Amino acid sequence: MRFPEYRPRRLRKNDTLRKMVRETQLEISDFILPLFVVEGKGIKNPLRSLPGQFQYSPDMLVKEAHEVVRSGVPAVILFGVPLEKDAVGSQAYAKEGVTQQAIRGLKDAYPELIVITDVCLCEYTDHGHCGIISHGDVDNDSTLDILGKVSLSHVQAGADMVAPSDMMDGRVGAIREALDESGYESIPIMAYSAKYCSAFYGPFRDAAQSAPQFGDRKSYQMDPANSDEAIREVELDIDEGADIVMVKPALSYLDIIWRVRTSFNRPVAAYNVSGEYAMVKAAAQNNWIDGERCMLEILTSIKRAGADLIITYHALEAARAILQPSRKR
Ligand code: PBG
Repeated sequence: MRFPEYRPRRLRKNDTLRKMVRETQLEISDFILPLFVVEGKGIKNPLRSLPGQFQYSPDMLVKEAHEVVRSGVPAVILFGVPLEKDAVGSQAYAKEGVTQQAIRGLKDAYPELIVITDVCLCEYTDHGHCGIISHGDVDNDSTLDILGKVSLSHVQAGADMVAPSDMMDGRVGAIREALDESGYESIPIMAYSAKYCSAFYGPFRDAAQSAPQFGDRKSYQMDPANSDEAIREVELDIDEGADIVMVKPALSYLDIIWRVRTSFNRPVAAYNVSGEYAMVKAAAQNNWIDGERCMLEILTSIKRAGADLIITYHALEAARAILQPSRKR
C-alpha cells in the first residue's frame, strides 16, 4: 500500500461510504444500565456526582424500568443500598431485603427485562468492605459462604444473572456450587474478573454509600499496573464456571479488554464506571466538550477494544443517540 496508489481518504468522502466501511457498530443490545435501589416508597434521589442518575425506592424503580424497556436496552444491573448495615452484611441475603424487593418488582412488571444483580457486601457492611473482617483485613474463605447465600437469595427472588464484584479468590466456584445445589444450574454468572483498585469508583461509592470506613481495597482489588495478572484472574474465573468475564474500569484498561478478548473464548463485558461517566458530564456541563459525541466515542472505543457488553450509566442516552443520530455527527 503506497501513496498515491492507495489514498485512504477515498473511502471517507461521504457519510454513506464511511458507514459502509465502518468496522465497529454500537448496538442498543450491547448495553446494561446500572440502577441503585434504596428502601422506602416514592423515592427518586438525584445523585450529585452522577448527573442524570438516581437512587430509587423499589416502586419508583419499576416506573423507571418502563423507560429502560422502551429504550430497547435489554438489561439492568442492580445495586441495593440498605438502611441497616452490620459486620456481616446480613441484609444482602435477607428475603425482604431491598435488592430482593426490587428484583421481584421488576420481574413481575417486565418479565422480558434481564435483571442482573451485583453480588458484593460493601453496600451492606457497616465497615464498607466487600467481605468479613478478621484481624484488620477481609477474610477470603469465610466471605465465600455469604456470597453464595447472597447469590442464591437474588436468584430465588427472580434474578436472571448474578455478577460477583467482591474479588475474593474462589468466589465464582463457591457461587456456582451454591446455585447448582439448589437447582439453579441454568443461571449464568457474569464475573467481575479483572477488577482494579480504581479511583474512578468515587461517585459510585457516594451513590451506594459503600466507601470503606478504614483502609482501602488494595488487598483484594487488582493493582492498576498489572496486565498478566488480569489474564490469570480471568482464567481462574472461567475454570470456576464464569459465563461472562468482565474488565473494570473500561477506559484506562482498554488494553486489558483487548487481551482478554484475544486470549479467551468467552463473552467479555466492560464496566464504564461512575468516574468515567462523571468526568464526561462535568466537562459537558461546562461546555468544554460535546458530551454526546464524547460518550459515543468512548462507548465505541470500548466495543472496538473487544467488549461484547458494556455496563454504562450512559445506556439510555446512548440508545436514544443510536436511534436518532443527530446531524452534527
Ligand atoms: C461493589 C462495586 C463497586 C462498583 C461496582 N460494584 C465499587 C467498589 O468496588 O468500590 C463500582 C462501579 C462504578 O464506579 O460505577 N464492590
